[in-house]
Amino acid sequence: MKQLVIEGGKKLTGEIKISGAKNSVVALIPAAILSDEEVTLYNVPNISDTNALIDIIELLDGQVEYKDEVMRIDTRNITNKVVPESLSKKLRASYYFMGALLSKFKYAEIYFPGGCNIGSRPIDFHIKGFEQLGAKVTIDGNKYIFEADKLKGARIYLDFASVGATINIMLAAVKAEGTTYISNAAKEPEIVNIASLLNNMGAKITGAGTSEIKIEGVEHLGKGVIDVIPDRIEAGTYTIIGALLGENLRISGIIEEHLDALLSKLNEMGVDLKVVDNDILINKPETFKPINVKTLVFPGFATDLGQPMSVLLTQADGTSIFEETIYENRMGHVPFLNKMGADMRVNDRTIIINGATKLKGEEVVATDLRAGAAMVIAGLIAEGTTRVNEIDHILRGYENIVEKLENAGAKIKIEEL
Ligand code: EPU
Repeated sequence: MKQLVIEGGKKLTGEIKISGAKNSVVALIPAAILSDEEVTLYNVPNISDTNALIDIIELLDGQVEYKDEVMRIDTRNITNKVVPESLSKKLRASYYFMGALLSKFKYAEIYFPGGCNIGSRPIDFHIKGFEQLGAKVTIDGNKYIFEADKLKGARIYLDFASVGATINIMLAAVKAEGTTYISNAAKEPEIVNIASLLNNMGAKITGAGTSEIKIEGVEHLGKGVIDVIPDRIEAGTYTIIGALLGENLRISGIIEEHLDALLSKLNEMGVDLKVVDNDILINKPETFKPINVKTLVFPGFATDLGQPMSVLLTQADGTSIFEETIYENRMGHVPFLNKMGADMRVNDRTIIINGATKLKGEEVVATDLRAGAAMVIAGLIAEGTTRVNEIDHILRGYENIVEKLENAGAKIKIEEL
């Protein structure tokens, strides 16, 4: 068993460089199998979700070369196979093979995906979209079977602007006969990144990044090349850390407009930060003002930054109110923050946070990926030693987190128990 051990209270300075986005690369890799040639991805983060997807590509007889953040996926020999539960449940994004295999082979068998336990997370919008494109979907226990004689373009309205459903329907529709429109599509930057790769491979997608996406089906997709966008959630996490502990800390390689909601909230709290080109320069202020935060779909405040942000709110002088609107159960971090000395009260999807409270080191659990990030942040500002258990959740999404923080001056290490 691995444990993350953090000695709190160290100032952070120097530079933290942001990696490629987890939630982009986990869709770009499945999207690559739609090519009949070779796809090259640059800026690929080395996180366990990436490695789990390589296993699926290799199961399907694709060849992967991955070195120094460059991944080449040779898809010429891809064959259609059942994606077993042992692989599908390692991560949420295994569900992108549903759309990709259905698109390529008109048939897919794949087990229900895994991912963080933060709510019921159904995939009904994905299924409904595939059905509207002409697929027959059968559910056999935990396994999904998708089949179609042919896929035909359709007008698809999403009840909620789901990131996963938007991407999966895009993957399924890209080679369908005719034109597909996705309305009330998700607008997250990751969707633009996936559409850009598909277009580079020969697809005809317009409107990605808006709530209406148009996909004109094409017969063949060829070679493709793309840069994975910077991880806005990783950038946001380190920016929050910078607000709490930064002394001329530089968070480098970000895209400012992906972080507008967070940066505006940090300004409201009185954080001393400035953006210069693609870097954020940040210093801890004397005090933080309490604020209200509500998570929303992009460009609103990202749900994936909610748990990290709530740690910062424990340090504001007064009462802050945090509301989670995307998932029904993203509060796993709260009992552990309270154990460390925070004053947080959960009422359904809202947390009332009274601050400022001193946090002290404790043994805590990363109940999911972003709850884990919250534990790391809490450990970095706490007095004494914090031990975080179940850190595999964290390593699924943050590349070299220990090295990045250590280089900036934190005292943090992984211990094998
Ligand atoms: N939903 C449905 N039915 C569906 C699809 C979604 O009811 O068919 C609901 C979900 O249960 C949830 C909401 O809609 O309450 C939003 O879900 P969405 O589909 O947008 O999320 P996702 O695609 O499953 C991705 C990220 C999440 C991130 C969300 C929202 C990946 C692999 N995951 O999930 O990332 O929170 O979008 O931005 O891209 C994380 O990185 O920590 C993480 C959880």
